[in-house]
Formats: sequence, structure tokens, C-alpha cells
Amino acid sequence: MKRYREVIPDFDTFLETIERPQPVTIRVNRLKATPEQIIDRLKQQGFEVKPIPWNDWIFQVEGDRNIAKTLEHWLGWFYIQEASAATAVMALEPKPDEIILDMCASPGGKTTQMAELMENTGLIISNDVTPKRLRALLANLSRIGVINTIVTQWDGRNYPNIGLTFDKVLVDVPCSAEGRVRENPELKEGADINFIRSISGTQKGLLRRALELVKPGGIVVYSTCTFAPEENEAVVAYGLKKVSSELLTINFPFPHSHGLTEWQGHQFGEEMKRCVRIYPHHLDSGGMFIAKLKRLA
Ligand SMILES: C[S@@+](CC[C@H](N)C(=O)[O-])C[C@H]1O[C@@H](n2cnc3c(N)ncnc32)[C@H](O)[C@@H]1O
Repeated sequence: MKRYREVIPDFDTFLETIERPQPVTIRVNRLKATPEQIIDRLKQQGFEVKPIPWNDWIFQVEGDRNIAKTLEHWLGWFYIQEASAATAVMALEPKPDEIILDMCASPGGKTTQMAELMENTGLIISNDVTPKRLRALLANLSRIGVINTIVTQWDGRNYPNIGLTFDKVLVDVPCSAEGRVRENPELKEGADINFIRSISGTQKGLLRRALELVKPGGIVVYSTCTFAPEENEAVVAYGLKKVSSELLTINFPFPHSHGLTEWQGHQFGEEMKRCVRIYPHHLDSGGMFIAKLKRLA
């Protein structure tokens, strides 16, 4: 992570945070339960349940048992999701009756979050290229009670034109996952630069296709859980160049940093400050990068 010393604010706190275990967080499934019901049931089973200050539907849980093994989890009353991961859908702001493509969707944390916010109306096309991961996606959709979603298996870079006009597209791309360092300590040294360079090519293809598929005036949210500028600002700069689009400001009600305007001699432009960088010490969670783009006519 040393190469990020100059760009991550409060770098010593960042280093301290990634040494600590990450709190487990759950997102209440509003299609099936209320926060009060879940707090009550989990407390009865000896779990400590704490709200987080910036989202009424997300809670930290602590206990001796694995929260995934509770009946309430099997019933789909909640989804175990990193608090930081929930922020990409907060930026997308899905609304009832919209038509949305989730281009890299498995195992479904964000598709299910969107379906909840859309009150199971409209349509989500939930896509992933990896068959094994699609099984987890299908299981999660069923567990959460999602009924507004069709699942497809395509390489998102060549996603076909299926005659739908997408209001919004979420592109939560495969990445080097440095933001998940608290769960994968081998990443403390930073991800392999050759992997970063090669996955950046895939990410560019995915973002470009997302921008081509969304309707003019529609919104694309691009997200990663990594710190590497090659996978973040460089990919967004490529998308802006290839498809007529602009970056929108994201107003988040919690501490965060902004996109980088420059990295190792590459200039990305002042507008890149509209992107959001979330580091583990911001939310005591994982790391995320989020860009919100609007396709121009
Ligand atoms: C970060 S994960 C997505 C997590 C998911 N959005 C969630 O919230 O649960 C990235 C996903 O991209 C998928 N993927 C990788 N390459 C892809 C491609 N070319 N087209 C579509 N999906 C791809 C992987 O199989 C993986 O499931």
C-alpha cells in the first residue's frame, strides 16, 4: 500500500484501521422485515446490534455465532453486506418502475439492494459472465424475495442490444480488491501491478459498453473496491473520452475523499474530483471508488 502514502489522507490511521478486523454489517431487507423486527430477533439470540449514522437500514452486528447461520438470514430478512459496498447503489439512486442493468451482478448484493429500493417494481437485468457465481446470484434473489429481475449470462463488454432502454446501469467491475485488505491481509503489500494493468483493460470495455447501452440522459455508476488509479480514474477518463458523457457530483452523508486529478504523471482532469474514494478508516469498513456519469445526447 506504500504507493498510496501521498494520496490516502491520514495515512497512519489508514494503516492502523487495516490491522483491525472489519465489523460485520447487515442490510435489512425492507421487502420482508423492519429494522425493529431484526434488532429484536437478533438481540434475543445474543447478538449486539448497532445502527450506523448514515444509513437507517444498515447495522453492525457482533456475536459469538456466525450471523449467516441464523434463521432470519435464511429467511432473507437481511443481506450480509460490507457497509462500504452499499454506497454504490446509494449513488445510483434506483427508483420504482425504472429499467436498470446490473452488468457485473454476482453474488447479488447490489441487485438485491436495488430491488429493495425499487419496491420490486420496474425491471432489473442482472448479468454476470461467470456461471458458478450466477448460482449464488440466483440463490440470493430467491432468498431476498426479488421478483423484478431477469438474470443473464454475457460478457458485459459485448452485452447485446436487447431492445430495452436502460434508465440506469451499474458497472461494479471485477478489480484487484485492495479495499478488501482487512479480509485478505496478503493485499497489504498492494495488488500485483501486472494484474492491475490487465484488469484495467477489461474494466474499460465494461464501462464503455455500459455508457453505450444507457439512454441519453441516463445514469451509469462505475464502482470498484480498489485503490489503484489505473482501475479507477484512468478507466473513468477512458469512458468519458469514448462516449459523450459527463461526471456528476455525488453527495454522500459520510466522510469520504475525492477522485485524483493526477497519478504518476497522468493527468485525469479537475472534474475527476467529482468521483468518490472511500477508505477503510472513513466508515470502519472496506474501500470503494465510485463515479457517477450521465450520458449526453
Ligand atoms: C465485484 S464483483 C460484483 C459484485 C456484485 N455487484 C455484488 O454487489 O454482489 C464482479 C463480478 O464481475 C463478474 N465479471 C467479471 N468479468 C466480467 C465480464 N466481462 N462481464 C460481466 N461480468 C464480469 C465476476 O464474475 C464478478 O461476479
